[in-house]
Amino acid sequence: MNTRPRIVITRRIPDNGIELLRKHFVIDVNKTEKNLSRRELLRRLEGAFGAVTVLSDAFDRELIGKLTTVRVISNFAVGYNNIDIKAATEKGIVVTNTPGVLTEATADMAIGLLLAVARRIVEGDRMVRKGKFRGWAPLFMPGHEVSGKTIGIIGAGRIGGAVASRARGFGMKVLYYSRRRNAEVDSLGGEFVPLRKLLRESDFVSLNVPLSDETRNLIGKRELKMMKPMAILVNTARGEVVDESALISALKGGKIGGAGLDVYVDEPNINPGFFSLENVVLAPHLGSSTLETRARMAELAALNAIAVLKGRRPPSVVNQEVMELSEI
Ligand code: NAP
Ligand code: GLV
Repeated sequence: MNTRPRIVITRRIPDNGIELLRKHFVIDVNKTEKNLSRRELLRRLEGAFGAVTVLSDAFDRELIGKLTTVRVISNFAVGYNNIDIKAATEKGIVVTNTPGVLTEATADMAIGLLLAVARRIVEGDRMVRKGKFRGWAPLFMPGHEVSGKTIGIIGAGRIGGAVASRARGFGMKVLYYSRRRNAEVDSLGGEFVPLRKLLRESDFVSLNVPLSDETRNLIGKRELKMMKPMAILVNTARGEVVDESALISALKGGKIGGAGLDVYVDEPNINPGFFSLENVVLAPHLGSSTLETRARMAELAALNAIAVLKGRRPPSVVNQEVMELSEI
């Protein structure tokens, strides 16, 4: 009989992560290209010691309350708003995430969306494919210059900081609003400012805060109204940080110039109001999706789970207070 503990991997992750986990545990991996239903998830978690989870798994209080053997939830993401941390902590379940390894890829995505909207790249691609390109002309499809403009970064942590450093490469002025100063962004010449000033003075606004009760709908009708009429909003954080209906109204009414979005309130469903807007680029939550980054995330998610179940300190723990240091 196999006496090694069992771990559930709720969606396929890169092989390097699975192979690392296989050295220590019996692996129960969902090989389908769909999320497990709640009932199936609970069935598989019965008797399992750990779960490697993805953002689309809702580990809410009700589900966590039903877990009897699970000691670690290793989220394959830096954001952990899909997990009720308080409920996990109360139950003594360690929650881990994958910070740092996806910072550069996600910052690249934010800048990619910014450029795509400002320079009308996706709109132009649509036109070319429809056979509507009639040749270069002096007044044809002008976009907005990026170099030398002002970017406002909301949430100057790891990814916000990496966006700031890229923006400096474009010769942009950097304003930032965050819970506290970021010394690295300061050293790049970034200016720590109140949210209101950032919104009023930025040509581009990049959202890089985690989703929390404080940041839900941080950008609503009032904030959008404060932005410049040509400003472009880039959201690689979480959909819920922005009031989507207010954003659609602002875009339709010309209150802001455009938006580059990677994240949505009800993924994978997208508010259809966005579809008819030419000045919006919609990416399907690709921020960390490079082969290299996903492999690093797989390794870190595996190392986190292994460490917890071996009674060691995991490389990145969310709820430090429940760390158990005994080997199973
Ligand atoms: P991070 O290093 O924790 O940075 C977040 C920053 O936001 C921190 O500086 C934090 O301040 C600040 N912050 C938190 N609450 C705030 C508030 N109410 N007002 C102002 N600032 C606030 O996290 P990260 O690694 O950069 O990741 C940020 C988020 O990006 C993740 O949580 C996730 O939602 C999202 N993300 C998306 C993708 C994607 O695929 N699109 C990929 C990766 C991450 P403190 O330092 O005081 O906590
Ligand atoms: C992706 O959205 C993440 O939080 O890692």
